[in-house]
Amino acid sequence: MPIRSIIKSTGRYVPPEIITNQDLTQWMETSDEWIQQRTGIKQRHWVSKDGNIGSSDLGYEASKIALDRAGWRPEDIDLIIFATLSPDYYFPGSGALLQRKLGLSTTPALDIRQQCSGFIYGLNIADAYLRTELAKKILFVGAEVHSAGLDISTRGRDVAVLFGDGAAAVCLEAEEHDSDQVGILAATTHCQGEHAEELLAEYPSFRKKPSLSPEILAEGLQHPRMQGKAVFKHATRRMPEAAKKIMEMTGLTVEDIDLVIPHQANLRINQMVQKQLEIPDNKIFNNIESMAIPR
Ligand SMILES: CC(C)(COP(=O)(O)OP(=O)(O)OC[C@H]1O[C@@H](n2cnc3c(N)ncnc32)[C@H](O)[C@@H]1OP(=O)(O)O)[C@@H](O)C(=O)NCCC(=O)NCCS
Repeated sequence: MPIRSIIKSTGRYVPPEIITNQDLTQWMETSDEWIQQRTGIKQRHWVSKDGNIGSSDLGYEASKIALDRAGWRPEDIDLIIFATLSPDYYFPGSGALLQRKLGLSTTPALDIRQQCSGFIYGLNIADAYLRTELAKKILFVGAEVHSAGLDISTRGRDVAVLFGDGAAAVCLEAEEHDSDQVGILAATTHCQGEHAEELLAEYPSFRKKPSLSPEILAEGLQHPRMQGKAVFKHATRRMPEAAKKIMEMTGLTVEDIDLVIPHQANLRINQMVQKQLEIPDNKIFNNIESMAIPR
């Protein structure tokens, strides 16, 4: 019987500290009204200012919940996939640190650096490992500590108001099923390197010498920078294109789908995508305004 990749459980974790839009006004020129109108965001979770909390720490908390729900012990895991753009260290990857926190000694750990599309890429990789019998049980984690890297002055406000900290974990297992309509049905991934500099964190850079300098720090080039309008345009074009492609690949229509869970970068993006795909309100999930979710 064909092997299918099944999501056995999920877990999520956000750090307790909440930063409201109003809180941001103490560091930068912005307003609750501007942020809500442009992005839909009311508040975000950030790790404590004292620091020393990394993506692997948040990922560990989410992993414990997912493992518990799946009834797995850490030793059951054949592979860890860790998606992050804000790793604890430049290297080694946060997956290695999570592996250590889970008390494991040699379980392989693979970091992927796919930013907003980390979940789709990671799910696709996990599906390939499971279906080719390279692994039977995979722990797939997405975690970010963005707050430590943001420029929270007025200079960086376009990016800083968007990003929060948090983690999610998924336990995936290979199972034999006689139906190919079970588990992960399909994924479609793309990349347009031509636009690489439209959203980037350039430093520290191993292309440049020195990789970091007082001048670079003074200019704020270690913080993420974004051409917001360009990113907005790509997102609202490419997300419907990819969604249409996946429906074509699986033979599904919007009527067949119970729930669409889009990436949570900007509520306005998701509303435009929803409109283009004609998804009814009761079939779309958004929690970007507060990151709240029932456990
Ligand atoms: C970031 C984003 C909300 C900005 O909205 P926008 O309507 O494009 O705004 P602009 O960048 O044109 O800026 C408009 C004005 O608001 C100002 N502004 C930018 N950020 C601001 C903030 N946080 N508070 C107040 N004013 C702000 C700008 O300086 C600009 O002022 P100016 O007209 O005097 O120059 C929007 O472009 C966006 O969501 N882009 C996509 C983000 C995304 O999905 N990123 C990927 C994953 S996180």
